[in-house]
Amino acid sequence: MVDPRPELSKLSDYVPGKSIDEIRERYGLKNVVKLASNENPLGASPKAVEAFHEIANSLHLYPRGDAPKLIDDIAKRFGVNKNQIVIGNGSDEIIDMVGKAFIRQGDNCIGITPTFSVYKFTTLSNGADFIGVGEGDERASLDKLAAAINDNTRVVFICNPNNPTGHYYNEAEIRAFLAKVPKNVLVFLDEAYAEFATAPDFPKLASALDEFPNLFINRTFSKIYGLAGLRVGYAIASAEVIRAMWKIKPPFDVNQAAQVAAIAAFADTDHVEATRKNNAIGFEYLNREFTALGFKVLPTQANFICVHIGDKAKELVLFLEQNGMIVRGLTSFGMPEHIRITVGKPEENELLVSLVKKWVG
Ligand SMILES: Cc1ncc(COP(=O)(O)O)c(C=O)c1O
Repeated sequence: MVDPRPELSKLSDYVPGKSIDEIRERYGLKNVVKLASNENPLGASPKAVEAFHEIANSLHLYPRGDAPKLIDDIAKRFGVNKNQIVIGNGSDEIIDMVGKAFIRQGDNCIGITPTFSVYKFTTLSNGADFIGVGEGDERASLDKLAAAINDNTRVVFICNPNNPTGHYYNEAEIRAFLAKVPKNVLVFLDEAYAEFATAPDFPKLASALDEFPNLFINRTFSKIYGLAGLRVGYAIASAEVIRAMWKIKPPFDVNQAAQVAAIAAFADTDHVEATRKNNAIGFEYLNREFTALGFKVLPTQANFICVHIGDKAKELVLFLEQNGMIVRGLTSFGMPEHIRITVGKPEENELLVSLVKKWVG
């Protein structure tokens, strides 16, 4: 037997949201709605779909690994230089590349908890320890996060808005935190859901990279841009940090279709606006209905809500699945009494609420 690296024994398997096919097959259902993985319920921008079809004639060609048009568009949108941007096969790969570029054996990485599991996975798989700060459905304290940093700390992960709670930190809070962090510690700000945030004080920190050269902003095309299936993520940081990322980046990881679709989706402000509007209406409805049923709904700045159901949360998730509705149970996040629901289209939200009412009895 060829032994894998010892670090792998510490890793638990990633638990993804269940797929529509899986639930269809398991329960012999025709119609299944998935509100479990924070995808865009309106689908991808029609302009991205068109670009995807058009590229079909060039499938025999390698993509441009340096994705010049996509990178140029991102740089212009954020007012940064092109050498401050890297792209990846989803932001999952960006997190993986951060691990390969920066995390060493014996380091530690710190993150607010509960949060997206890939930060811990990357940390452990590179031989470092992960220190979680925070508990339950309260917003983790950034003061405690800063206090946990020591000489061996390499990366601090902050998911903002946080998956799965939906909590956010405002610009003043993040700036105050950054001011406390030694400059040799990378602050990984995961803004996968930032485009959904409506709070006026939500951070806009791309312009603060000169002030904070250890800041790393992670974004994705999987959420508001509706391209989860194509896998495109990007990050903005100082030119030095980004240079290290390009060194370990696989050369053709972001394929041609992903590049052209991302360019089109990025420019389609109408689709982004329609998605934001759908999200606001859906959040208002779900929040009202779940609150009226006596459940605690956490405040959110993202495209999902986190609801405290209680000790029967697993039972509810199963009941919904049996009735063709997939939501995310949060046991793997360490929150067994909560569920996370992606805001869907109005008819999907209504179906969900009617099923929950049936379950409540
Ligand atoms: C906070 C956060 N970051 C990153 C990702 C990964 O996104 P992707 O790899 O699709 O870009 C997700 C996916 O759910 C997420 O919730």
